[in-house]
Amino acid sequence: MSGQTPKSSTIDTVLEEQRVFNPPERIKETAHIRSYEEYKELYDYSIKEPEAFWAKQAELVDWIKPFKKVYEGDLVEGEHKWYLGGKLNVSANCIDRHINTWRKNKAAIIWQGEKRDETRVLTYNELYNQVCRVANTLKKWGVNKGDRVALYMPMIPELAITMLACSRIGAIHNVVFGGFSADSLRDRINDSGARILITADAGFRRGAYIPLKDNADKALEGCPGVHTCIVVKHTGADINFWTQRDKWWHHEINSPDISSVCPPEAMDSEDPLFILYTSGSTGKPKGVMHTTGGYLVYTSLTMKYIFDLKEEDTFWCTADSGWITGHSYVIYGPLALGATTLMYEGLHNYPNPDRLWQVIEKYRVSIFYTAPTIIRGLMKEDEEWVKKHDLSSLRLLGTVGEPINPEAWVWYHKVVGNEKCAIVDTYWQTETGGVIITPLPGAIPTKPGSAAMPFFGIEPAIVDSNGEECDSKDGGSLIIKRPWPGLMRGVYNAPDRFRETYLTMYPGNYFTGDGARVDEDGYYWLLGRVDDVLNVSGHRLSTAEIESALVSHNKVAEAAVVGYPHDIKGEGIYAYVLLKNNAKASSELRAQLGQHVRKVIGPVASPDKIHIVEQLPKTRSGKIMRRILRKIASGEFEQLGDTSTLSNPESVDELIKTREE
Ligand code: WT7
Repeated sequence: MSGQTPKSSTIDTVLEEQRVFNPPERIKETAHIRSYEEYKELYDYSIKEPEAFWAKQAELVDWIKPFKKVYEGDLVEGEHKWYLGGKLNVSANCIDRHINTWRKNKAAIIWQGEKRDETRVLTYNELYNQVCRVANTLKKWGVNKGDRVALYMPMIPELAITMLACSRIGAIHNVVFGGFSADSLRDRINDSGARILITADAGFRRGAYIPLKDNADKALEGCPGVHTCIVVKHTGADINFWTQRDKWWHHEINSPDISSVCPPEAMDSEDPLFILYTSGSTGKPKGVMHTTGGYLVYTSLTMKYIFDLKEEDTFWCTADSGWITGHSYVIYGPLALGATTLMYEGLHNYPNPDRLWQVIEKYRVSIFYTAPTIIRGLMKEDEEWVKKHDLSSLRLLGTVGEPINPEAWVWYHKVVGNEKCAIVDTYWQTETGGVIITPLPGAIPTKPGSAAMPFFGIEPAIVDSNGEECDSKDGGSLIIKRPWPGLMRGVYNAPDRFRETYLTMYPGNYFTGDGARVDEDGYYWLLGRVDDVLNVSGHRLSTAEIESALVSHNKVAEAAVVGYPHDIKGEGIYAYVLLKNNAKASSELRAQLGQHVRKVIGPVASPDKIHIVEQLPKTRSGKIMRRILRKIASGEFEQLGDTSTLSNPESVDELIKTREE
């Protein structure tokens, strides 16, 4: 823990922000919730009568067997359970219940590939057929209820199909983002105990291949438990194929013994639905576990009210499904509500900076959800890239992943939204299952840079380092005082880790790891992480993990990694590296170290700056003074604070002199 000082670069601009935007009239007229009073009344009810509130919201979901009790448990022990005794199936909620209605031949998933002419549309009915076939294929290869299935795939429909197929038979999916390396994939497979991996030959990125199958081959060398690897032929890239272990997806699912009917398994509300690994303050990623009933109710409810989703909407969330955003708001949320969800494989600025706008125009997207880093990247470009497209189909714009600086918010509002769209800055985490602090588009006026107010059932507070609630202008730590259905149930394979990591810092409360403050109108302003977690382009990384990757290089003795403000990425990665005695600093070695981190963790974790140093500033007890390293990396030399307790104060001047610009 590095103290309670949030380190976000947006903090200064955010603290000066005064503008307020009322919900656009056209949104107010049709939104699910149309006034602040309506929000407030339902919010107060959700807090005073949680049992009645959550029982009612469960009607959004089709139950095979009704639940007997709404919830039990608390945040002291950390065991909380929702919709006890209820039975349901997530894939049946996302598919089967739509095919008995007019929606059967409606587009469920529209897929746009990186190449313009590569598109596919899956109707709900087609999705049903494919999900059943894949579910039966998984069964054929030995996957049973409760087994884990690892996925390492590009953003293609087969990823959604596999996730839904797992949920259909009660298998637990573990999706690993394609930007992670073979080593990271191996560790996540082994920790989850998956015995089967679904991947693709490769993915596309700027016209080149991301070698998914090659990485998978390397990973599987260290995964003795995996007996089967199913490979989607996506790019046609040359790959190695071991017929003993590897199976082609298209052969398997079209095999004559595979039926296109697979009855959904009746799952208990508290049966696990998926595991998703995420980074914390320590070196080892955590397998965050979500279960069936609570997660589905919570994603459906947030989808409906925060994105004001109607079944006629075409919803586009640009997140990769290797992250939680892609689980909750590319796949489960939109499909549970019977909307059309768009999946896009490419990058936001390839081949040109108008790629997103061109796709919105092409499919007449009505709700668009992306990350501040992408908005910042695109707002540097000429406005003509946006203006040349007809974006009049848009009604609502969302952001997620990091605090949005007011300049980017206003650009999004004016240039992309043409001042006619509602904007929702949605705050949440892998652990929270769905959005927890947010405006409601027809009800809550927005302030650029503020994620506004708690969603129904969420009771946040800001506390100081003693755990006392505080309303200081400088903010404090953001905690949530009671559980809700979407909150993670545990860390896979580590029964005590949920309580230890999240619930002991402020006993009985969930600690988010973020700093925040509340203004006089009750608006929450997120101020960045207060722990050693970095947020680079909306990707969550742990400094400890990058450090341990660096130290695993044979020339590195010690490493300290910090974040620094980065115009586009939000935060950049600055690594201080101390070499072993026999090693010599050189630009080749720096490049090698960058490569090494890419190999160990993946391209997402590649340091922006590597500073080879003679010594690191340490306290007399030998602890690295990260506060000082952060200031130096950020170029804030004036505010280094007290350096007198260092055992080697001279190291500071040396670091400033040799700093990487
Ligand atoms: C961390 C969670 C689930 C969203 C995708 C990232 C930061 C997320 C916001 C926001 C300020 C935000 C927090 C949080 N964050 N959304 N709207 N405003 N900060 O999920 O990888 O679990 O990261 O992202 O720091 O703790 P994640």
